[in-house]
Amino acid sequence: MSDQPAQPLKRLHIKTYGCQMNVYDSGRMADVLRPLGYVATDTAEDADFVILNTCHIREKAAEKVYSELGKLREMRDRGLAAGRARMTIAVAGCVAQAEGEEIMKRQPAVDLVVGPQAYHQLPELLTRTARARGERIGADFAPNEKFDALTHEKIGARGGDGVTAFLTVQEGCDKFCTFCVVPYTRGAEWSRPVADVLAEARELAARGVREVTLLGQNVNAYDGEGPDGQPSSLARLAYALAEIPGLDRIRYTTSHPNDMSDDLIAAHGELDALMPYLHLPVQSGSDRILRLMNRKHGRQKYLELVERIRDARPDMALSGDFIVGFPGETDADFEQTMDLVRRVRYASAFSFMYSPRPGTPAATMAAQVPDAVSRERLHALQALLTGQQVAFNEAQAGRTLPVLFERKGRHGAQAIGRSPYLQSVHVEDADHLIGRIVPVEIERGQQNSLTGRLQQKAA
Ligand code: SAH
Ligand code: SF4
Ligand code: F3S
Repeated sequence: MSDQPAQPLKRLHIKTYGCQMNVYDSGRMADVLRPLGYVATDTAEDADFVILNTCHIREKAAEKVYSELGKLREMRDRGLAAGRARMTIAVAGCVAQAEGEEIMKRQPAVDLVVGPQAYHQLPELLTRTARARGERIGADFAPNEKFDALTHEKIGARGGDGVTAFLTVQEGCDKFCTFCVVPYTRGAEWSRPVADVLAEARELAARGVREVTLLGQNVNAYDGEGPDGQPSSLARLAYALAEIPGLDRIRYTTSHPNDMSDDLIAAHGELDALMPYLHLPVQSGSDRILRLMNRKHGRQKYLELVERIRDARPDMALSGDFIVGFPGETDADFEQTMDLVRRVRYASAFSFMYSPRPGTPAATMAAQVPDAVSRERLHALQALLTGQQVAFNEAQAGRTLPVLFERKGRHGAQAIGRSPYLQSVHVEDADHLIGRIVPVEIERGQQNSLTGRLQQKAA
């Protein structure tokens, strides 16, 4: 064994909070640091470089960063006392973008603050940090530079990808919902060119990826430049992706109701690769609240949209996001949300108590709803949504569903895969099928997963 490696190995730990776009970005940060000798580790303990990839969406998410930084600082001090090299600490993601200055002030242990559009500069920033601590970089939005630098050259170096992968195709948001920080932390809507997306998808497929989830804060507003120089819709992109050999499943998230175009709805009826599961947040069922939220559509429009989608694809499973306790929300408004949920029947959903965010219009609206009221509404809504999820899962019993096996289960030869509706499916004696799509007889549906068995002994 050689005791002189070309590059001394350094340990990199990235802790990811927030949405899938952060998960994708964390992967790209690891890619860009790999040529410098950084190897990813699961724990911060003993790491040479720790990056917190943060989320600013709700107060709790943002506050977590500061407690985590406190812990890291202690960890670093312990390491130094034990004679280890000094750990470099960076904050990335949406908190970095939104309150970089404050991070530096509140936690001087931070070496580097880097916004979501500047990850490609990490190698250079690291060298600079070694000389001068406490820089804040990357407040400007330039997603084209980010993607050019992060994907094309570096993708060849990416390793360890599994059966499914995220692929960011769109970033940013122009919608300015009055409760939301994303337009401020991620900048304006921007779509990657079709050719770039296809190139990355081909790489992923060549690596054994069978399912891609296209990501964007408003993914269905996708309008990346097509081969003819004209903007391409998400539907057209999906058709092109479906041509790639090995890529059998396509998903996308998150969609705004107003960008759910006719061609995308039609594609759900025509394109087998497009999975029958759609995350279509509505936030509230009350017209009055939707107006205050600046969602730019009413409840009737959403309900009609759901109907049109189900006409195109009758088995479409829907999921959504809800906010309760938005300023001014009355019992009657909340009842409208409950009523909408009963009509739509969701397969799964996320619901949150409204959290006032600095700099957003809703934070200063009159009639903020008391926490106790919001909490009660949240419980009622979650009970309803959980009931719908359980009903949806139980209704799969007796059906045979194509399952894409992703990983080994916890015991024996069990394997875990996904149904077309994004449900986890647990199957015994199936661990030889990872990476394959196989028909599974569903025996039982539980709250969070399905249990099934192989139809016949697959070879
Ligand atoms: N672009 C997506 C949402 C991204 S944020 C969309 O428009 O649907 C994910 C979810 O977080 C939102 O759908 C919303 O339900 C929730 N959220 C955003 N800001 C929030 C806030 N200030 N308080 C509580 N929940 C919030
Ligand atoms: Fe936030 Fe609204 Fe944009 Fe979604 S559409 S990211 S909720 S501002
Ligand atoms: Fe959070 Fe930023 Fe995503 S605020 S939800 S990590 S876009």
